Amino acid sequence: MQDDQKKTTHFGFKEIPTDEKVQAVANVFHSVAAKYDIMNDLMSGGVHRLWKRHTISQSGVRAGNKVLDIAGGTGDLTLKFSRLVGSEGQVILADINDSMLKVGRDKLANHGVVGNVKFVQANAEALPFPDNTFDCITIAFGLRNVTDKSKALASMYRVLKPGGRLLVLEFSKPESEMLSQVYDHYSFRLLPFMGKVIANDAESYRYLAESIRMHPDQETLKGMMDEVGFERTSYQNMTGGIVALHKGFKF
Ligand SMILES: C[S@@+](CC[C@H](N)C(=O)[O-])C[C@H]1O[C@@H](n2cnc3c(N)ncnc32)[C@H](O)[C@@H]1O
Repeated sequence: MQDDQKKTTHFGFKEIPTDEKVQAVANVFHSVAAKYDIMNDLMSGGVHRLWKRHTISQSGVRAGNKVLDIAGGTGDLTLKFSRLVGSEGQVILADINDSMLKVGRDKLANHGVVGNVKFVQANAEALPFPDNTFDCITIAFGLRNVTDKSKALASMYRVLKPGGRLLVLEFSKPESEMLSQVYDHYSFRLLPFMGKVIANDAESYRYLAESIRMHPDQETLKGMMDEVGFERTSYQNMTGGIVALHKGFKF
């Protein structure tokens, strides 16, 4: 294929060749991995913990279940799931990025989690698991980084068991114009500044802010889930729609 015919996609607000996005996203997460948890707490004022707690409460996960936490990163959800599924169950923390996986593995070991958690390096677009494997799949703040989101959702649908549920926790579209303006100011000015001061990495945090704006809004994402086969899809806005939790089932 000629260069000028090459397919492109967005990387934040930039347009780049589609086949370069995975590497561009990888560079961001290699760069932020070591400071990821502390930055999460600082940037959200700790509120990401409430969003994640709510996600767990909506998961329906019980002892003995098999859970996939895709784009699981440093393992916040995996840690909670590992306690819920117990010794009869299993949680797989899958992530494309080995730096994030390493931070996650060390953190879970420090919390005494052993035995029922497995770490797998995988791309959400091509999950390396058999059909109908998981009772629950979560992807938290991961989907917006994936190049082909529909392909990833279809891959999640395939590996979910009939009766299982998918939960997508992601930044979304604020419900009010006023909140939107305040949030824009925060994410485009304050976020890169905090990234520079705390992690010496303004660029990565600028990408994070831009990628949030480029992510499909609540209704669009729900439609994408419907399209690949999820049923009874719904979403709940949190913090005025800054974040939304989408839910869908496979029957
Ligand atoms: C913002 S972090 C979220 C980590 C964790 N889920 C959380 O909520 O704290 C996004 C994660 O998505 C991962 N990621 C990006 N693209 C991916 C892909 N195509 N497949 C799997 N993981 C991906 C990154 O490596 C990173 O660890």
